[in-house]
Amino acid sequence: MWKPAERIKYTALDDPWPGAEEAASSTLFAPLTVGPMQLQQRTWVPAMVPWRSNEEGEVTEDVLQWYERFAKGKPGVLVVEATGIRDIPSGPLLRIGDDRYIPGLRKLADTVREASEGQTRLLIQIIDFLSIRRRPDPQKFLQRFLRITDAHRAALGLPNSADEEEVRSALLGLEADQLSSVLNAKEMEDYSHGYRERVTDMDIDEIANLPNTLPNLFANASRRAEEAGFDGVELHYAHAYTMASFLSATNTRSDGYGGAKENRVRLPLEVYQACRELTSDNFAVGCRFLADEIIEQGNDVSTASYFAEQFARAGMDFLSLSRGGKFDDAKQPKVGWAAYPYTGKSGYECMPGYISDEQGPFGRNVEPVASIRQHVRDCGFNTPMVVAGGIHTFRQAEQLLQDDKADIVGFARQALADPDWFEKVRTGRGKEIMLCRYSNYCEGLDQKHKQVTCELWDREQLDEPGVAKTHDGKRRMVAPAWS
Ligand SMILES: Cc1cc2nc3c(=O)[nH]c(=O)nc-3n(C[C@H](O)[C@H](O)[C@H](O)COP(=O)(O)O)c2cc1C
Ligand code: SF4
Repeated sequence: MWKPAERIKYTALDDPWPGAEEAASSTLFAPLTVGPMQLQQRTWVPAMVPWRSNEEGEVTEDVLQWYERFAKGKPGVLVVEATGIRDIPSGPLLRIGDDRYIPGLRKLADTVREASEGQTRLLIQIIDFLSIRRRPDPQKFLQRFLRITDAHRAALGLPNSADEEEVRSALLGLEADQLSSVLNAKEMEDYSHGYRERVTDMDIDEIANLPNTLPNLFANASRRAEEAGFDGVELHYAHAYTMASFLSATNTRSDGYGGAKENRVRLPLEVYQACRELTSDNFAVGCRFLADEIIEQGNDVSTASYFAEQFARAGMDFLSLSRGGKFDDAKQPKVGWAAYPYTGKSGYECMPGYISDEQGPFGRNVEPVASIRQHVRDCGFNTPMVVAGGIHTFRQAEQLLQDDKADIVGFARQALADPDWFEKVRTGRGKEIMLCRYSNYCEGLDQKHKQVTCELWDREQLDEPGVAKTHDGKRRMVAPAWS
């Protein structure tokens, strides 16, 4: 993963913990109305993919145990991982693309409700992503995958009559640096990083047609979430995926859904409206998007403020702000691996690690969110906003709420490190918390598509009777119980 050049090492903040009385009178533990939802406290566990589903994308026993463990900590809101809205195979990632998923998801909603004793509101993050392939073996790419055109023949000085085999063997004879004068930029990227679809690939019918297909797919996913008993959906408009790519400053589509920011926000608004139409007033609909894309010429805080205003004006129930996490600056993957959008600078800003710069890894998104929120307030909207990124102590969270910088505080990796953070702080037992080190061990597992665990607990009490273990039998699947 990319790290800031300064390479300054940080340890978790050593803030004092509140007693139960101070916690009870804090803003963090005060209730809040978010659209149709009543939150018991202003804490939020953002979506995290744990690789617990199966090839069918179903709610498995492992999925149930994973979310049950978070629910026992009773956060204000728990957001279930990015869940695919299409009914197509996508590896062991959760799916909600057909009504047959409803019973499993209902079980998940019931499990969380029971384990949190009704204290935690449950959302599901719904996502669309485009096709991405692994970086090919260079020889195989030139021998088989590359579509040969007359442009290649011309660049190689071959006549148009030259057959494919001749072109391919000429390409195979080139040095790597010579290839770039024969292949176009897209082909070079397919060769060096692996094929990846973009929302600007208008020559692919399915992609050109996304503004017609996506609203319905998102809306039906929302309907299923409501039928399954979730309190709402979080539309995934962040990071490297389809909807974020529509919002992105890099979206140059010429069909009225790209170019100017007014066009780029059109589909996200249409998707939202479609979701509203298929769900009831008791169901929350909001989105997660980027306060800053952290890529060259990407959206910054001022563009994000414009989007936030549009989303608030349209009536979204909440806005959750992340940052970065783009393919644009992702590292070249090894042959046989797919590009991972958290390996460049934008990835660092999304999940800052303990090796950082002078600003440090804690709360890097707070000021950007505060500024976006101020803009939304200035426009006359009170839409609640969630901030996340390196927040792990009560003081950090309480201070930013007191300073009116956000409405709700997200704890992703801290909740993974210790799902009982919320109950421990609330009951005045903060000293018992296992603080996240921001080692990004968990994120490394996600990158390798391995079952996500935390290094602080995954080798603990492995001999406990009935403990569920990872495929290799070396790690426990959920944090040990708090006793
Ligand atoms: C293992 C892992 C999986 C993640 N999966 C998602 C996801 O599905 N959707 C999403 O919006 N963010 C995802 N994130 C990002 C987190 O929600 C969060 O924005 C990020 O970790 C920064 O917050 P933190 O410092 O509190 O961890 C993931 C993070 C981790 C560590
Ligand atoms: S592995 Fe654990 S300690 Fe390390 S970043 Fe992830 S949650 Fe934090």
